[in-house]
Amino acid sequence: MISKLIATSLFGFVLAINAATAAPDWGKVSGKKITVFYPGVATINWVSKAGEHSGSRGLRKGETCASCHDEEAADIGKKIVTGEKLEPNPPKGKAGSIPVTVQAAYDKDNLYLRFSWKEPAGGGEKLDKDNQVKLAVMFVGEKVPMGSQVGCWLSCHQEARTMPNGDEKRLKYVLGADLAAGIYYDLIQWKSGKGAKPSDGYVGDKRVMEGGKALVDAKGEKKGDTWSVVFTRKLSGGEGDVTLSEGKVIPFGFAIHDDYAGGRYHHVSLGYSLGIGAKADVTATKQ
Ligand code: HEC
Repeated sequence: MISKLIATSLFGFVLAINAATAAPDWGKVSGKKITVFYPGVATINWVSKAGEHSGSRGLRKGETCASCHDEEAADIGKKIVTGEKLEPNPPKGKAGSIPVTVQAAYDKDNLYLRFSWKEPAGGGEKLDKDNQVKLAVMFVGEKVPMGSQVGCWLSCHQEARTMPNGDEKRLKYVLGADLAAGIYYDLIQWKSGKGAKPSDGYVGDKRVMEGGKALVDAKGEKKGDTWSVVFTRKLSGGEGDVTLSEGKVIPFGFAIHDDYAGGRYHHVSLGYSLGIGAKADVTATKQ
């Protein structure tokens, strides 16, 4: 009798643990299509320059990149990847854009983010031989200036490594970065390479790929011609981890390094919003 009681309560306990950490049933979570595009050398310097980018005035007035460009991301990518604009070194065989389905869910402990897309044609130079695909997500720190307008752009500078005349040692950074004050990007990344560990870091005055305390797990796979990547991330972590909570809306962006790409030769999203049980471009639904 007693052993039966113990067994039943143990069983209940195990069920409870499973429920708390179980990934959602993605078939039941609605998806948002976001097109990532090839940005070439369209750095924050270029997008901010009045003489070069007509959108710079709108940006200063508070408009978002997505409000002007969301529907034409594929056209922009095509223009740039072919070298018509903003790409002095057009990569061969690379897609101009990739439509990605983004899904999100959360429970009392975690945020679950899923990205899925059809592998586009490739055949370009293999800059990262170990990883056919990488996917990075950046959550924008609360006090990043223009953070809700520009997605990842404030971390992308013309002097970065792999930019024309870039500095080998310069990666992503945020001007005036201050972790304690919320001026940084929280960064997580999944890599497809065999045995590659996911990264949990941040972009402050430099890019740091480790030390974050929020990422629980990142898993990806290719089934047929379709990739899918799922991140499980605690709602809150440590330094460099943006704190999420129910009702909050957080600006974010993401990037895919497709076809063994490295450095700036990636596809990026404009800036979008993620709502934790709150209305946003991507709304995480409660589990
Ligand atoms: C107020 C509307 C507006 C906003 C906001 C805006 N843009 Fe633009 N953008 C334009 C227009 C108009 C063009 C085309 C003419 C040009 O290059 O100036 C353009 C061109 C571009 C191009 C070159 C491709 C092309 O079709 O010519 C890129 C890349 C780009 N914008 C990225 C961005 C990014 C990234 C942001 C946010 C950081 C942004 N834009 C914000 C209006 C906008």
